[in-house]
Amino acid sequence: MSYKIAVIGGDGTGPEVVAEGLKVLEAVARKHKIKYETTNFDFGGERYKRTGEALPASAPDELRKFDAIYLGAIGHPDVKPGILEHGILLKLRFALDQYINLRPVKLYPNVWTPIKDKGPEQIDFVVVRENTEGLYAGSGGSLRKGTPDEIATQVSVNTRMGVERCLRYAFEYCQKRNKRKQLTLVGKTNVLTYAFDLWERAFHEIGARNYPDIKREYAHVDATCMWFVKNPEWFDVIVTDNIFGDIITDLGAMIQGGMGIAAGGNINPKGVSMFEPIGGSAPKYTGKNVINPLAAIGAMQMMLETLGEDKAAADVENAIIRTVSKMPSMSAGKMGMSTTEVGDTVAKNV
Ligand code: IPM
Ligand code: MN
Repeated sequence: MSYKIAVIGGDGTGPEVVAEGLKVLEAVARKHKIKYETTNFDFGGERYKRTGEALPASAPDELRKFDAIYLGAIGHPDVKPGILEHGILLKLRFALDQYINLRPVKLYPNVWTPIKDKGPEQIDFVVVRENTEGLYAGSGGSLRKGTPDEIATQVSVNTRMGVERCLRYAFEYCQKRNKRKQLTLVGKTNVLTYAFDLWERAFHEIGARNYPDIKREYAHVDATCMWFVKNPEWFDVIVTDNIFGDIITDLGAMIQGGMGIAAGGNINPKGVSMFEPIGGSAPKYTGKNVINPLAAIGAMQMMLETLGEDKAAADVENAIIRTVSKMPSMSAGKMGMSTTEVGDTVAKNV
């Protein structure tokens, strides 16, 4: 059997970092005799400028035929913010029902963190972000736009089904991870009394009934930001809604060394999932061979894991760990290595 992998390099530095991830895939696939074929898609800002279309209508159906999607970055300086994000990234997450956004926050040895006195022992948790509902559902509208009487609403949509499937995934993930067996619901029950009341009830019902071995914790999202900095060791697995997950994982990325290392997976457990570095397209670094490809390589590792290639995924992670030990920084231009050198080194270490 041969895996079919769709590759969307996307905008800015996306294609450069994806190329390094594919280099590592080639090395690890050779080692483990994994067969795969890749197909490129040109979705992104350039295509939009040329055609006026962010994503062809046929794209979701076409992508559904693949085993996984590997994505670089979406976002172009000449395209109004929102068009490509909505038209490509969010569109695919929704159309392919990738209802989980899985974002590990793991500090590797020798990687600098801005948190004083914390190291790899203390910074190692995973955020399970709901990825198809909440404030991202697109519910709302505006009235009397452009006048002093303008009204704008943006409604957070939380369905029992959507919340439950996300919670179940998080409980299962926590069980498999088998570390502290602690799942923390992050919300805002003191203010968002409808949405997070639903989340909290579902959390305790499902947890008590099906996952009695998992310890249930709750934290408000604002306090969570404080804990990420003050006591990150407090977390094992976090589950939260779409917008809170978006926000706290940027903070998470910083404490694990920055956007150069943070990877994520948009997961549909029964369908096709999409893996991406969580930093953006970094247009100003495009073509300079200075951007850190480790986040994209980490996304490749998550892809292998999700495909069930655990040994290959573990090899990639170990190769990343050996590579970071020789890098002074995770930031573009300060790595002491070029984009391609980092990719070569990880591939060699595999
Ligand atoms: C992310 C990004 C996206 C999001 C944007 C680009 C739409 O910030 O993947 O975290 O908000 O989900
Ligand atoms: Mn984000």
